[in-house]
Amino acid sequence: MWPLVAALLLGSACCGSAQLIFNKTKSVEFTFCNETVVIPCFVKNVEAVGTMEMYVKWRFKGKYIFIYDGGQNKSTAENDFSSAKIAVSELLKGDASLKMDKRDAVLGNYTCEVTELSREGETTVELKYRVVSWFSPNENILIVIFPILAILLFWGQFGILTLKYKSNRTNKKIILLLIAGLLLTVIVIVGAILFVPGEYSIKNASGLGFIVISTGILISLQYNVFMTAFGMTSFTVAILITQVLGYVLAVVGLCLCIMACVPVHGPLLISGLGIIALAELLGLVYMKFVASNQKTIQPPRKAVEEPLNAFKESKGMMNDE
Ligand SMILES: *[C@@H]1O[C@H](CO)[C@@H](O)[C@H](O)[C@H]1NC(C)=O
Ligand SMILES: *[C@@H]1O[C@H](CO)[C@@H](O)[C@H](O)[C@H]1NC(C)=O
Ligand SMILES: *[C@@H]1O[C@H](CO)[C@@H](O)[C@H](O)[C@H]1NC(C)=O
Ligand SMILES: *[C@@H]1O[C@H](CO)[C@@H](O)[C@H](O)[C@H]1NC(C)=O
Repeated sequence: MWPLVAALLLGSACCGSAQLIFNKTKSVEFTFCNETVVIPCFVKNVEAVGTMEMYVKWRFKGKYIFIYDGGQNKSTAENDFSSAKIAVSELLKGDASLKMDKRDAVLGNYTCEVTELSREGETTVELKYRVVSWFSPNENILIVIFPILAILLFWGQFGILTLKYKSNRTNKKIILLLIAGLLLTVIVIVGAILFVPGEYSIKNASGLGFIVISTGILISLQYNVFMTAFGMTSFTVAILITQVLGYVLAVVGLCLCIMACVPVHGPLLISGLGIIALAELLGLVYMKFVASNQKTIQPPRKAVEEPLNAFKESKGMMNDE
């Protein structure tokens, strides 16, 4: 008889003081992109049949910041953590996780205390912040490199234009192209300075906006370079269409990247910028090609000059020039 009582007493002693067991999580992280923050607290061995048997308290730096009193079915949150709440409907499944808005999320150790009738337990989770760059380092480089490359190629076209096609008729156009080109260069440099690698911010989003939107000026510049040099050919039309498509891709990519906190559409934006630069390169190569062709296939004027030169040469008059 006595051993049995002893066993019962021992048993009740063991189970009466039984602790609630938690799924331990050492820490959780949030980033710029989390709008709400969830600090996990899972009890594995809930036995309560109703939430009125449960009592949940969340502690931060020795102060209770949130209390759920199951008996009264009432939640109370501290002023600094006014958005804090738990999902009462999940409580019987053991989930006492604390949810709050990011603005209330102070970094540090949060302790979850759960009481269920006579059983209780607690667990501590550290809330951490992780800085996540908006774009990856490689994406950052490409986003800046492609527009700068495209601008350098434009200056190459501009150089050919001034060297090979200069005439009084085109001077005014060349000055306008120069001004527009300088303007574009300045905008893209300012954009690249604002677009420093780092977390999403208004500053680097506007930097990206400057860079991408202003590359549209290149289309108009390239069109004017072609028109000033030799007018439209089917090849220059194809180059310009390619560039417009690249620009559309880049702008769509820009909108998608700015709308989403995690820019999954970075590759779309970058391929758009790459196509713009490629079209600029094709334009330069084509201009160079046309310019060198024009040297060999000469206009009629030369046909008169050549016999004249031959005549002068035969008379030994070349030295007089
Ligand atoms: C606790 O963790 C175990 C595995 O470690 C998992 O199977 C279980 O679903 C978790 N419980 C809760 C409530 O998350
Ligand atoms: C932040 O968001 C990520 C992705 O949605 C999620 O996995 C993570 O648990 C969140 N962090 C916190 C502390 O809520
Ligand atoms: C507790 O109150 C909420 C509304 O505040 C209600 O939806 C829920 O059913 C109540 N739970 C119990 C057990 O009374
Ligand atoms: C949280 O607790 C852990 C472990 O006890 C400790 O290493 C860490 O420094 C604490 N964090 C803060 C912000 O107090």
